[in-house]
Amino acid sequence: MLRLPGLIDIHVHTREPGATYKEDWDSVSAAALAGGFTTILAMPNTNPPITDLQTFDQALQLAQHKAHCDFGQYLGANADNAQSIASLAPQAAGLKMYLDQTYGPLRLDDMRQWMSHFEYWQMNRPIVAHADSRSLAAVILVAQLFNRPIHLAHVSKAEEILVIRKAKERGIQVTCEVTPHHLFLTQEDIPAIGTGRSEVRPRLNTPEDQKCLWDNLDVIDCFATDHAPHTLSEKDGSNPPPGFPGLETALPLFLTAVGNGKLTLDEVIARMYTNPKRIFNLPDQPDTYIEIDENQPWVIQSRNTYTRCAWTPFEGREVQGQLKQVVLRGKAVYKEGRVFAPPGYGQSIRTIG
Ligand code: DOR
Ligand code: ZN
Repeated sequence: MLRLPGLIDIHVHTREPGATYKEDWDSVSAAALAGGFTTILAMPNTNPPITDLQTFDQALQLAQHKAHCDFGQYLGANADNAQSIASLAPQAAGLKMYLDQTYGPLRLDDMRQWMSHFEYWQMNRPIVAHADSRSLAAVILVAQLFNRPIHLAHVSKAEEILVIRKAKERGIQVTCEVTPHHLFLTQEDIPAIGTGRSEVRPRLNTPEDQKCLWDNLDVIDCFATDHAPHTLSEKDGSNPPPGFPGLETALPLFLTAVGNGKLTLDEVIARMYTNPKRIFNLPDQPDTYIEIDENQPWVIQSRNTYTRCAWTPFEGREVQGQLKQVVLRGKAVYKEGRVFAPPGYGQSIRTIG
């Protein structure tokens, strides 16, 4: 039996408030435990979005009552809340800035808006940017102008990871995450998954982009799922929303890649525990670990999942390594397919300790 630290997913869409038919704090945090994650950080593009004290408090209260695992909540940057949310930084997982096309209303198009968030958000509190292609280069520059670190969400293209490499070589304080779907799927998988189901932002890329991500693994600080559940009827409908569920498939995909010699177990632990914990300044979870049967092969299937959306783009994929148990603060919270932590067992990462 392999024992690892409780994993951290810094990029999760909970859908609560506003779209609990897709997911809620109960189902998302159960899915997290079933995937080996004992901490999740929740994105602010809910309905309403989390952009002020009232919506932030509501989200934290929902999480506190319902979460089975530990949690943090991001605040969303909008055109006019830079000043008003700055004092909430100590309670937030971080500030999320959407600079490119996304799901939901949060998008900052004018660089003056970026600048006021860099000006007001408390120093040394995390800022995460959703920035594709040239806006990724732009936001690295603007963060530099304000002399503060920036974390780049779901980097997916060759040009992006190569710009980040250069920035890091220059000593610029930039960190980044890559999703399992950009590492394990490409455009070539779209026919098998289905066109509507394959919609995701950033889009699935070319095999060349994918290879470049793997070739620059040393530049990737974190693996983050960007768990973004939508129902199958939405995905198969006329206007499919972008997003894949990912919490319950990430660990087996990476363990399988370890088995195939694509990366080492230490590299996985760094990207799913050590680096996320450092970058987001997360507290220790005492007596917390996960246990895995390393060699057990199994097939990913959408039945038996905790995510409410009940599908996966990895359907039918053969993987190796099965999660057997999750222990969080001394309690067996997940064992052999069942979640034992009651709703509310999870704690806020900004109030622990
Ligand atoms: O595919 C995506 N889904 N990309 C995003 O930026 C948002 C996310 C969602 O919330 O569904
Ligand atoms: Zn996202």
